[in-house]
Amino acid sequence: MDFLTSQTHLHITTWVVAIVLFLVAAMMQKGTKGRKVTHMILRVFYILVIITGAALFGSAMDYSMGMQYGLKFLGGILVIGMMEMVLVRSAKGKPTSMFWILFAVFLLFTLYMGFHLPMGSKLF
Ligand code: HEM
Repeated sequence: MDFLTSQTHLHITTWVVAIVLFLVAAMMQKGTKGRKVTHMILRVFYILVIITGAALFGSAMDYSMGMQYGLKFLGGILVIGMMEMVLVRSAKGKPTSMFWILFAVFLLFTLYMGFHLPMGSKLF
């Protein structure tokens, strides 16, 4: 699994693609085939984000920062959860504003934690 953890680029690539696919799907007209297909591809990317994140998480135990890594893990899962809530609820015609706000909050938190933790770039 070295190729997953030797650098954080693969993880970054997967979550950037996921966020772009999410925004594209959210802007597409509801009920269209294009939106359903985009959502399906997005779900594959959720799995890739989680696999690459979990692999980094596994090698993070050397840093004895379990609590902070735990929060980063949780934040990443919540970002994915909010993307799913927005898309599923809007497809059903239910309100999504609250989930958009939570998406933005969890995303900012996860980006901050990711760039704060020692592997890859440490911006904060
Ligand atoms: C859409 C969701 C996610 C976003 C936006 C995100 C964002 C980031 C960012 C910005 C970094 C720092 C990369 C670097 O410094 O080079 C990172 C690293 C990391 N991510 Fe994620 N991530 C997400 C999901 C996840 C998930 C689901 C997990 C766990 C399963 C996870 C675990 C990790 C770990 C362990 C690191 C290494 C932290 C370090 O020491 O730098 N991430 N992520």
